[in-house]
Amino acid sequence: MRRPHRPSGGAKDRPALRHDRASGTTSHAGGASEAKRRNPRVPQPLDPAEPEERPARPPLAVREGARPLERLPVILSVASDRDYGLIDSGGGEKLERYGPLLVRRPENQAIWPRRLGEARWEDVDAVFTGDTEEEGTGRWRFPKVPLGETWPLAHDGLSYLGRFTSFRHVGVFPEQAAHWAFIEEKVRARGPVRLLNLFGYTGVASLIGARAGAEVTHVDASKKAIGWARENQELAGLGDRPIRWICEDAVRYAEREVRRGSRYDAILLDPPKYGRGPKGEVWQLFDDLPYLLSLTRELLTDRPLFVVLTAYSIRASFYTLSALMAEAMRGRGGAVESGELVIEEEGAEPRRLSTSLFSRWIADV
Ligand SMILES: C[S@@+](CC[C@H](N)C(=O)[O-])C[C@H]1O[C@@H](n2cnc3c(N)ncnc32)[C@H](O)[C@@H]1O
Repeated sequence: MRRPHRPSGGAKDRPALRHDRASGTTSHAGGASEAKRRNPRVPQPLDPAEPEERPARPPLAVREGARPLERLPVILSVASDRDYGLIDSGGGEKLERYGPLLVRRPENQAIWPRRLGEARWEDVDAVFTGDTEEEGTGRWRFPKVPLGETWPLAHDGLSYLGRFTSFRHVGVFPEQAAHWAFIEEKVRARGPVRLLNLFGYTGVASLIGARAGAEVTHVDASKKAIGWARENQELAGLGDRPIRWICEDAVRYAEREVRRGSRYDAILLDPPKYGRGPKGEVWQLFDDLPYLLSLTRELLTDRPLFVVLTAYSIRASFYTLSALMAEAMRGRGGAVESGELVIEEEGAEPRRLSTSLFSRWIADV
């Protein structure tokens, strides 16, 4: 049953990808002017596929047993390294280093003054100009030399491509590095595990998991994002690792896996606030996340490792995610840690840029 759109504005939006049938291309949803006319605060994809009615769902399962321990707030802070750095922020923008390139983009959260002078902010390789809304339209400008769509990047020795995509995104979300370290550590400590990555985008988390020894199932609604993720797999030299790339609606995939009796040891969920499955299935975080998390619980093996959830741009607190996760995981022991993912500026007295909320359930505490 399709429910009405529930608006939830905010500055921490992340992209849903949309497919444009006319051009055969896919881009991040929500920035197009028509969507903005409809509701300037809410990214609304212009996916030409008619929204598909989701089949009626059973009432949300009320789980029994003790609630897991809850730890909060937990702030996971990503600091600069040789692959990425937040050089400065302020005045509604951020100045970042992505491998060899300096990139300047709008950042609604950065309402404080900049530390560096204009000369430093001018000396960049790429600038996103245009709408200051997270999902707003605009274009990339290359003040020094014209750049292609992609450039080589790495994280902790894992190679992948940066991309100048529509709507200011660069094909990776550096704050996720906090989760990548956690995934890597847990997977390496356990040995071969099955990892499910829902809303996997360009696949860095999937590749980190695969490199650590996991058998990975990566699900995303966008064919284009899956293509980018596969390209990253080759670039990372992980072409021989067991990764299944699946272009499907995350809810639909999880429902099918539950029916089939498939099980996973570790599950990642990085949903947008609003998105569409390949058949037009509407994803609304507030409406659909409780159900998806309930399915996630059913997908866990008897000896699971973790569930990691990140949420962007929602009018909610990490208390919300924590309560949702803790209720979903009742009776399964472990602990739920919830808080924010933040990026720390380089240098002395760094300001911290809040990017997203997260909640993770950890089986062994
Ligand atoms: C916020 S991005 C995920 C970013 C990624 N985890 C990372 O850190 O690089 C959200 C992704 O969800 C996908 N998506 C949107 N709606 C979806 C749906 N209904 N089912 C599956 N994936 C969807 C988009 O294509 C996009 O790649």
